[in-house]
Amino acid sequence: MVTSSARQEALHQARVQMDSLFSLIRPEFFYERGVPERHRLVFYLGHVEAFDWNQICRWTLGKPSFHPSFDELFEAGIDPQNGMLPQDQPSDWPSVDEVRQYNDQVRDEVDQVFDDVPSHIRHMAIEHRWMHVETTAYILHRLSQGSKAAPRLLLPPVSPSPVHQMIEIPEGLATLGGDSQATFGWDNEFEKGEVSVPEFSISKYMVTNGQYLEFVKDGASSPSLWIRRGETWWLRTMFGECALPLDWPVYVSQREAQAYATWAGLTLPTEAQFHRAAYGTWIGKEEEYPWGSEPPRAMHGNFGFTRWDPLPVTANPAGDSDFGVAQLLGNGWEWTSTVFSPFEGFTPYPTYPGYSANFFDQDHYVVKGAGPQTATCFLRRSFRNWFRPSYPYAHTGFRCVQN
Ligand code: AVJ
Ligand code: FE
Repeated sequence: MVTSSARQEALHQARVQMDSLFSLIRPEFFYERGVPERHRLVFYLGHVEAFDWNQICRWTLGKPSFHPSFDELFEAGIDPQNGMLPQDQPSDWPSVDEVRQYNDQVRDEVDQVFDDVPSHIRHMAIEHRWMHVETTAYILHRLSQGSKAAPRLLLPPVSPSPVHQMIEIPEGLATLGGDSQATFGWDNEFEKGEVSVPEFSISKYMVTNGQYLEFVKDGASSPSLWIRRGETWWLRTMFGECALPLDWPVYVSQREAQAYATWAGLTLPTEAQFHRAAYGTWIGKEEEYPWGSEPPRAMHGNFGFTRWDPLPVTANPAGDSDFGVAQLLGNGWEWTSTVFSPFEGFTPYPTYPGYSANFFDQDHYVVKGAGPQTATCFLRRSFRNWFRPSYPYAHTGFRCVQN
């Protein structure tokens, strides 16, 4: 049984991670945007608390608001189409102090009633906060060096150079979606269904910077985190720069990933192919995680805030799938060629009808896997992420498939 204190503890942990992330940003820079398609950081400071207030106190318990204008100002983020970037000014936003006061009061109110709301509402609050921990991390990545204090960084372990190969995945069934009676999931994870997937082969490793460099040398434009100095390439890391690590996965938009795959005579995997590669086994049954049924630990992959930056694609071999495909969870999300759309039986949650439905517009693609700043709760098989094909910011790489 999940006790009241264990639930509050899960919320607390997410708050601690979020607060420590915000504490790295120098106050003036809360009015920077980091990612042009997203709000200024000050929005995110208020957004997660406004979400909890709205979901828990306002829409579930019907409490009267103590700050209606903030409940609305911080209610929802933005996801503009190409060429429709936001035009708001820093002066359109309240001060950081005012937002922090609102946040303190929301936390007090939420703490008093957290145990009284249905479990899916509690899960939504906790997971939504973890999602924004990751959003904040990738926005922080794009802020200028002087805007943030570098925390201590772990030295990467020594990993062998990758020997690239395509791995054959036999024909079989992939179970997409989760069991709505058994565990929490977001609306787009239901209902569960089986898809038959013909044989295909997939790259053992995510496409590396070194591989993508060949494409750039052949005329492609360089990924947004790369910097060219004379004849050498550098990479923008979370808190600095380093000579381009050839064995790290490349982070790109889906368009860039797609262009690379076409150049290589290959394609991007579908969502179902990702599932086969990650969860399929030689004996037929599907696993909970690529490595089996053991709960995720640091040795299985680069996720859950162990590190700020990627590792070489050969790191964490303990996380390999049964077919020998590496790093399917961690070290970077992975683009698929599947348009984000509902499974059969999709039903939105009444207090959050737009969580997924607002993005069923044929211009968002399913993203699977996990990145270094992805919380472990999102490593469940049915979790689906999504972004616009031109969006390069979310620590998203890819691998290629031959059909
Ligand atoms: C599921 C990660 C695409 O960040 O836009 C957060 C999650 N939705 N608040 C996003 C989300 C509303 C969403 N992604
Ligand atoms: Fe949000």
